Amino acid sequence: MTTSDDQTTTGDDSRGDSSETDEERPDGVAIGSNFKEERLGDMKDWTIIKRLWRFMRPYRVTFLFCLLLLPVISGLELLQPHLLQIAIDNYITPGELEGIGLVIGAFGGAIVMRAGIQFLQHYLMQRAGQNALVDLRQELFEHVQDRPLGFFHDTPVGRLMARMTTDVKSLQNALSSGIITMAGDLIMLTGIVVILLYKSWRLALVSFTVLPFLIAITAFFRHYLREAFREVRTKVARLYAHLQESITGMEIIQLFVREHVSADEYRDINEEYRDANLRSIRYDAMLYAIVEAIGSITIGAIIWYGSGQVLDGLITLGVLVAFIEYMKKFFVPIRDLAEKYNQLQSAIASGERIFQLLDNEQKVPEVDSPAPLPERPFRIEFNNVWFAYNDDEWVLRDVDFEMAPGERVALVGHTGAGKSTIINLLMRFYDVDRGEILVNGTDIREFDLQAYRSTFAVVLQDVFLFEGTIRENITLRDDTIDEETLHRAAEAVHVDELVERYEGGWEHGVEERGANLSSGEKQLVSFARALVHQPEVLVLDEATASVDADTEALLQDAVETLLSQQTSLVIAHRLSTIESSDRILVLDDGEIIERGTHGELIELGGHYETLHELQYATSSETSEPKVAE
Ligand SMILES: Nc1ncnc2c1ncn2[C@@H]1O[C@H](COP(=O)(O)OP(=O)(O)OP(=O)(O)O)[C@@H](O)[C@H]1O
Ligand SMILES: [Mg+2]
Repeated sequence: MTTSDDQTTTGDDSRGDSSETDEERPDGVAIGSNFKEERLGDMKDWTIIKRLWRFMRPYRVTFLFCLLLLPVISGLELLQPHLLQIAIDNYITPGELEGIGLVIGAFGGAIVMRAGIQFLQHYLMQRAGQNALVDLRQELFEHVQDRPLGFFHDTPVGRLMARMTTDVKSLQNALSSGIITMAGDLIMLTGIVVILLYKSWRLALVSFTVLPFLIAITAFFRHYLREAFREVRTKVARLYAHLQESITGMEIIQLFVREHVSADEYRDINEEYRDANLRSIRYDAMLYAIVEAIGSITIGAIIWYGSGQVLDGLITLGVLVAFIEYMKKFFVPIRDLAEKYNQLQSAIASGERIFQLLDNEQKVPEVDSPAPLPERPFRIEFNNVWFAYNDDEWVLRDVDFEMAPGERVALVGHTGAGKSTIINLLMRFYDVDRGEILVNGTDIREFDLQAYRSTFAVVLQDVFLFEGTIRENITLRDDTIDEETLHRAAEAVHVDELVERYEGGWEHGVEERGANLSSGEKQLVSFARALVHQPEVLVLDEATASVDADTEALLQDAVETLLSQQTSLVIAHRLSTIESSDRILVLDDGEIIERGTHGELIELGGHYETLHELQYATSSETSEPKVAE
């Protein structure tokens, strides 16, 4: 019997009916949840199967071999009732048991052989399916990794995860067993019909009178089952969405004592999930019971009609017994048909979602023959750059500045002014809409993307550490970085002091997202990461997170070291960083409104001066120099 969990593809629901999920969802699935369905296209089932075949193709020999084994397996299974018939008619009824051993032996042999071949087929098919999935998963991962950053901003993490895990899993069922078992069932059903008609067409016709009912009933239930399974998938997707959000946001939930709200919401979804499951189980159990009942009635009819035939001498007792046995075998695949059909449906739905992801060709545009990277040092120019994330909402307007080799340029401005966006453009996470960015006179779009990026080191505003060791988080597993470079970089930004304090030293374990490091420590590690890669240009988006005065001093010193040797673009919040810059650009609503050195700007008495005044006032109170935003 089906447990509907087997059917769950999770992630999100079936194809082309995203509105259904939206309607069903009450407001606020989780605190701050924004669980949106994507619209799916209308890929034809056939197209999806054809595309899936591409992954099975390398294993087509195995696949074909397994298909060829199917008639053998069915044959061996269908031989058994026939042997029973022989045993009854030729030995038991006449009362001559001599030689019956041979028939019994053949019966046993058929069972053993069938089991053996079944094992072989099952194993080979699973192996082929698993291998095809390895290829599919790898292709998916590499494809996703190649998408531009904008893609990740638009695509919820949960959805990507669902594509790459549960959807792939639901394909696995279809690829490695579903298709083959369905084909096997079909062969078996056809075989039984032919054999029965051959043995006694009258009795066969009596047995098959129930067939139209059976077909009608399964078709009826198939419809409801499909709907029910679909609902189960929707609910489980919501359950996961809530779970994911709650775990990620646990800090906020606990801080604001929202546990009960979150738990209540979870209970609602949890119960809806149970109800959906129960509904599908109810249909499934009903179908199961009805098919069983029809089966028993049919067998009753066979005995009733058949015994008359036996008494009239039209058929033998053996034939009657064989008929009963065949009919029993006939009902099993029919009973399971609904489940298998549904599995196939859900696999096709998953296939569609996976291909939709694979079809996403969003890319950072690259030229066919990239220009060679310019000679170092770099002179960087922003020429009248305009940029918008969405259509016409300009985030940068006519931004125009230059960075000479060795210069330190600081960007300051209120929050949302567009500072981080300038970095996004320089690193080609996005391309400019108007104007151009040049390095030594060449448009950065002309360069090979990876080669270009590798000449920069960027310390982002939100420091991200991976699970691993301190060493791995600094070198990012780049084996070309030698110990000396590592130690020198660490020393320059005070990470060596950190390492000394840790038990494991360089091998000290960093937990997921750097959870076991303080925010100051994380920043230091990210500085070391930037230094160790010996970039031509350093880009620093200073984190705004407050740290204690000691750490602040440490960070300040580290930043100075970091920036002192090379061309650097820094989004600065620390007074010291700003004041010692060669040039300061004051950004306001995407426009550069003031530029100059610290002294010049103070003298100008404009925006910067106000900013500085504010900052100075705060920092003398707290002795933590920070530019108020
Ligand atoms: N991925 C995005 N999609 C759409 N709009 C965005 C995106 N990233 C930023 N923005 C918008 O662009 C504007 C500039 O954002 P940006 O991150 O450059 O600000 P910022 O100057 O770095 O601010 P902060 O000092 O707070 O880091 C903001 O109004 C922001 O809402
Ligand atoms: Mg920013």
